[in-house]
Formats: sequence, structure tokens, C-alpha cells
Amino acid sequence: MAKTLPKLAFTILITILFVSSSLLLPITCQGQFSRKLSKKEMGLKREKLSHLHFYFHDIVSGKNPTAIQVARAATTNSSATGFGFVVMIDDPLTEGPNLSSKLVGRAQGIYASAAQNEVGLLMVLNYVFVEGKYNGSTLSILGRNSVFSTVREMPIVGGSGLFRFARGYAQARTRTIDLKTGDAVVEYNVYVFHY
Ligand SMILES: *[C@@H]1O[C@H](CO)[C@@H](O)[C@H](O)[C@H]1NC(C)=O
Ligand SMILES: *[C@@H]1O[C@H](CO)[C@@H](O)[C@H](O)[C@H]1NC(C)=O
Ligand SMILES: *[C@@H]1O[C@H](CO)[C@@H](O)[C@H](O)[C@H]1NC(C)=O
Repeated sequence: MAKTLPKLAFTILITILFVSSSLLLPITCQGQFSRKLSKKEMGLKREKLSHLHFYFHDIVSGKNPTAIQVARAATTNSSATGFGFVVMIDDPLTEGPNLSSKLVGRAQGIYASAAQNEVGLLMVLNYVFVEGKYNGSTLSILGRNSVFSTVREMPIVGGSGLFRFARGYAQARTRTIDLKTGDAVVEYNVYVFHY
């Protein structure tokens, strides 16, 4: 009897702890699939609008290309637009037009030729930032890039870190293109709403 009492007390203590902790964590313990949440509870205050400006370096030539073709159509010569090719990129994003200027992030993802009668790329990529407070935050781009137009606009469909709930658009302007190698520097202006 005297031996089982502390055991019982222990069991009760554990039960109380478990029940009270489950009261503190209603989301995880009650098996509740969804619930309404206020912006305040999430710590979301005013929505901000930010403008980001950087240069994108698409390096397809040399020993260390940052853009690599990973697939193309078997009948690739049937189209002057390279319809069907897929390129995987990990392109540096810099503050200035010179590749040696400060690195602010990388563009990681895929572009693919998605138009048969003109050069129109499907862009599916993430900008992964490394600069200052944006370090580790990302923006996701899903859009169409008609590379020979002066200005191309692509939607920002989301983001992470500082860019949670992001939406907006990116405008691209080709600054330099080496017609021999295919290397290009593209200026980006990004306008994005986020918290
Ligand atoms: C593609 O190139 C091959 C080899 O040069 C040629 O035989 C074929 O006719 C070409 N196809 C088209 C659709 O131009
Ligand atoms: C880029 O920067 C490097 C090193 O600072 C310099 O040598 C080069 O001339 C610059 N290129 C351009 C196009 O300004
Ligand atoms: C960005 O964050 C990574 C990982 O936390 C860290 O190693 C790196 O030094 C940071 N870079 C800058 C420029 O703050």
C-alpha cells in the first residue's frame, strides 16, 4: 500500500501534465483539421510593398556554366525556337551589372522553351536571397518570358521567410547578351507585397 501510493501520485501527476499540455496545444492534440486564425495571432501586421533591383547572370558557356540544358525534343531542328528544351539554372544575382559585384542571391530552377512560333520560355524558379535581412528568404516565380521583348513581366506567386504570403511581379530587361556564347545579363525589378 505504502509503495503503490507514490506510484499512483506519479501517474496522476503525469496525467495532469499531459492533459494540461494538451489544453495548451489545441492545434496539435485535438486532431483538428482546420480553424480560423486572425492575422494578429500569426503576428502579421501591415502588408508592405518592396522593390528589389538586381542583375541575373545566365552563364551557359565556359568551364563553370550556371545554366545547363538537361533535356530537349528529339525533333529539335523542327523548330527555330528550340521548342521543348529544358534548362536547369543556379544563376547568380548581383547588386550591379558586373558579375564581380556583390552577390545578393541566386535564381534556382528551370526555364523551358514553351512556344513553337517565337522564343517564349516557361520560367519556374526561386530567387534565394543571401543579402542582409533577406538572407534565407525566397521568392517563387512562375511565368512566361519572351526573351526578345524589351521588358518581360513574370508573376511572383509566393515566398518564404520575410516573403511569406508574397505576391507581385518581376520585370526583366536584357542588358547584355553575348551572341557567340549565349551568356546574358538581365536586369530585374521586382515589386512584391509581403508582411
Ligand atoms: C532534322 O535534321 C535531320 C538531320 O539533319 C534531317 O534529316 C531532318 O529532315 C530534319 N528535320 C526537319 C523537320 O527539318
Ligand atoms: C567588372 O569588375 C572587374 C573587377 O572589378 C573589372 O576588372 C571589369 O572590368 C569589370 N567589368 C565591367 C564590364 O565593368
Ligand atoms: C546567411 O545565412 C547563412 C546561414 O544562416 C550564413 O552562413 C551566412 O553567413 C549568411 N550570409 C550573410 C551574407 O549574412
